[in-house]
Amino acid sequence: MRGPGDVPNREVLLATSADRPETGVDEALLPDALAELGLRADWAVWDESRPWAEADLVVLRTTWDYTNRRDEFLKWCESVPALANPASVVRWNTDKRYLGELISAGVPVTPTEVVEPGEPGGAAESVDWPDREFVVKPSVGAGSRGAVRFLPEQRAEAVRHLRGLHEEGVAALVQPYQPAVDREGETAVVFFGGVYSHGFVKGPLLDPADDSGELGLAKGPFATEPAPELRRVAEDVLDATSALLGIPRRELLYARVDLVRGEDGAPMLLELELTEPRLGFSLADRAAPLRFASAVRSELAHRAE
Ligand SMILES: Nc1ncnc2c1ncn2[C@@H]1O[C@H](COP(=O)(O)OP(=O)(O)O)[C@@H](O)[C@H]1O
Ligand SMILES: [Mg+2]
Repeated sequence: MRGPGDVPNREVLLATSADRPETGVDEALLPDALAELGLRADWAVWDESRPWAEADLVVLRTTWDYTNRRDEFLKWCESVPALANPASVVRWNTDKRYLGELISAGVPVTPTEVVEPGEPGGAAESVDWPDREFVVKPSVGAGSRGAVRFLPEQRAEAVRHLRGLHEEGVAALVQPYQPAVDREGETAVVFFGGVYSHGFVKGPLLDPADDSGELGLAKGPFATEPAPELRRVAEDVLDATSALLGIPRRELLYARVDLVRGEDGAPMLLELELTEPRLGFSLADRAAPLRFASAVRSELAHRAE
């Protein structure tokens, strides 16, 4: 008969990028939490040659350098036999055009116009520009890269920025700037294995369009207990995503739902992060890394079935 001592010491690789061999305060908590639950865990750079196939699970964490080589990154994801989140989820989630699918599914999302690279000049001409401050950002991006705020009268600059994104080969997203981000920040609602874990608030990240150089009032990041209406919308986002992708929520090892309140106070999705979100472990209660590690064990058990 097998006893607990016979359980193999399973290996988890945490994928990072070459420019971040030293991982931050958040990530530093993960290997110990995984070890506490009996797993061997190690960091590995995604575009270096490693025995990826030998790991029981490869977990995407701080692979933040993929944005200008998404194809290479997706090819690597697809080559890893046991990846979390799954490669198909990563493919869908690394292009913000998924916001359109969630809008169609009835989820409240920040109003978003997708501007595809088109004929020179043509695409920019047809944009329904917001009549208040707005954001132009790439459909593939992370860490606010390429996201810029504009005032309505800065249309010419916005068109130039949009064309620059098109020249890089990505679609552009145009959204009204949500002033609640300045007042109260955006709320990140974090789930492990489809189950709510914790929340935190992020302050504004984009420089103001009026050149004042002053970021808004909200400071962050800090831990928060999200209001019930925020949590409810976050749950709706996960359900809609699970239905769209045809996978159970449980198979999302981690998910971060970034919400902002519209001017009427109703929560809306700003971004759904299923690829490499910062998960706010250093801000959350001490058990958050252990809930993550427990979700990893659950995923390993499911894969062994
Ligand atoms: N429509 C918007 N209204 C207010 N702030 C925005 C808006 N779009 C982006 N931002 C700001 O820019 C940051 C980065 O944009 P986001 O869509 O989250 O892309 P990513 O995090 O993938 O770069 C957000 O965290 C937020 O601070
Ligand atoms: Mg974001």
